[in-house]
Amino acid sequence: MPKTMTGYSSIQIGLHWAVVVLVAFQYVAHNGIEAAWRALERDELPPAEGAALTNLHIASGMLVLLLALTRIGLRMTRGAPPPPSDEPRLLQLFAEVVHVAIYALLLLLPLSGLIAWFLAVPSAGSIHVLMTNALLVAIVLHVAGALFQHFVRRSDVLMRMLRPKPDDPAAVSQTEYQ
Ligand code: HEM
Ligand code: HEM
Repeated sequence: MPKTMTGYSSIQIGLHWAVVVLVAFQYVAHNGIEAAWRALERDELPPAEGAALTNLHIASGMLVLLLALTRIGLRMTRGAPPPPSDEPRLLQLFAEVVHVAIYALLLLLPLSGLIAWFLAVPSAGSIHVLMTNALLVAIVLHVAGALFQHFVRRSDVLMRMLRPKPDDPAAVSQTEYQ
């Protein structure tokens, strides 16, 4: 069972923001792989000028898979801070559902992409595109939630994804009182 933490570690925070940058890149720079995929569907060679972007989409997507697995591992061993104690139960549940959906999509998106590309499975490509839309919806809800926590509920939820807390709460109070 994961421990109850008072905050995220610097590694958890670093991984969160690294994945944000990589995922943003996937949405902004997908033209290369899309053109290549269309060409392959027509049994043509992918256009040479899009090769670098295509390879970056694949590499960045595989990195997301690796980092997501690391994050899930850390969450299961180190744990995560609990929601603010005064947060309505329904809101806590909603945030949890969105987090689980995001984690699932961070694994399934690269996997479906890899299956489509390397095993030449067209349906996996269609599922990949559908899941890119599902992830976008989840991210919009997630970001809205983070901003709602910060500006409306005025909780520490946004700040704890920016400021790390060491593992051992006892060590924190010791250093604070030194
Ligand atoms: C979290 C990781 C990933 C994200 C967020 C992502 C995102 C995207 C996006 C936004 C598109 C354009 C969808 C559209 O046409 O509207 C796309 C297309 C595509 N991606 Fe990924 N991708 C990821 C990982 C991968 C990986 C690892 C591969 C492996 C090769 C891959 C292969 C493809 C292919 C083949 C397409 C073209 C599919 C089509 O247009 O029908 N993706 N991806
Ligand atoms: C690609 C975009 C994003 C993805 C995939 C993503 C993913 C995640 C995931 C999976 C968690 C759960 C961490 C855990 O407890 O295990 C999380 C937490 C968090 N994210 Fe994001 N996030 C994204 C963008 C953002 C943005 C733009 C913000 C700020 C506006 C943000 C703020 C937060 C905050 C404050 C938490 C902590 C929530 C809590 O402690 O209950 N995220 N994020």
